[in-house]
Amino acid sequence: MALYTLGDLHLHYQTALKDSMQMKSRIWKNHEEVFRKNCREQILPEDTLVFAGDSSFGRKLAECEQDMQYIAELPGRKILLRGNHDGYWDAKKTNALNEHFRGILYFLQNNFYTYEDYALVGTKGHCFEGPFYLDRKGRILGWDEKNERKSRELTERETDRLIRSFEAARAAGYRKYLMFLHYPPTNILEDESPFTGIAEEYRAEQVIYAHSHGESRFHDSIQGEYHGVLYSLVSGDYLKWKPKRIL
Ligand SMILES: [Fe+2]
Ligand SMILES: [Fe+2]
Repeated sequence: MALYTLGDLHLHYQTALKDSMQMKSRIWKNHEEVFRKNCREQILPEDTLVFAGDSSFGRKLAECEQDMQYIAELPGRKILLRGNHDGYWDAKKTNALNEHFRGILYFLQNNFYTYEDYALVGTKGHCFEGPFYLDRKGRILGWDEKNERKSRELTERETDRLIRSFEAARAAGYRKYLMFLHYPPTNILEDESPFTGIAEEYRAEQVIYAHSHGESRFHDSIQGEYHGVLYSLVSGDYLKWKPKRIL
């Protein structure tokens, strides 16, 4: 039995892509086929695969039926986390999604799932991504303060959801945690954040996040061990569409 993860499939079988990196970058060419092939080679029916957000560009359920079908047909038990592009996933309707896909797909928010003696907890997360104002040498002179204030509100909402997920797992007797986020746990200016604080407080063994695309963004946040927690970026283009085994 094994636990795998990957984020940012950006499926769009029923939605048109506009001008995006997905149309321009080679790593995204045929990525659905590459990922499906890798899954079939690596993942067994008894394994678990966690999608770390941005699974589908569908803005409502009717627009992502084929995307969900694609995911459902991959091997293993499939657990999904919410990303900023998962418009079909109304934050208040996670229970309805779990009902709709009962026994087929599992949606992680304000709840938890288990893998052996681990609780899989998580939420979309949030970090302030700018705009940052730079000088000619790329040094940061300042940032959009209004946007940053808004960002703090979103962070607060997401930390509440994350704590709810941890507390549900703790109340059920779990003491070993793997924490999933869609957004990186910190932005490019931070060493720590409310999310790293929560990971440390609950002694999560690992924090797994996605969302960062393209060479220039892969090192925006923490990778490797920090304060006793192992951090991994698992966006699909970073992993070259090979699911990452985390347990
Ligand atoms: Fe993404
Ligand atoms: Fe994202």
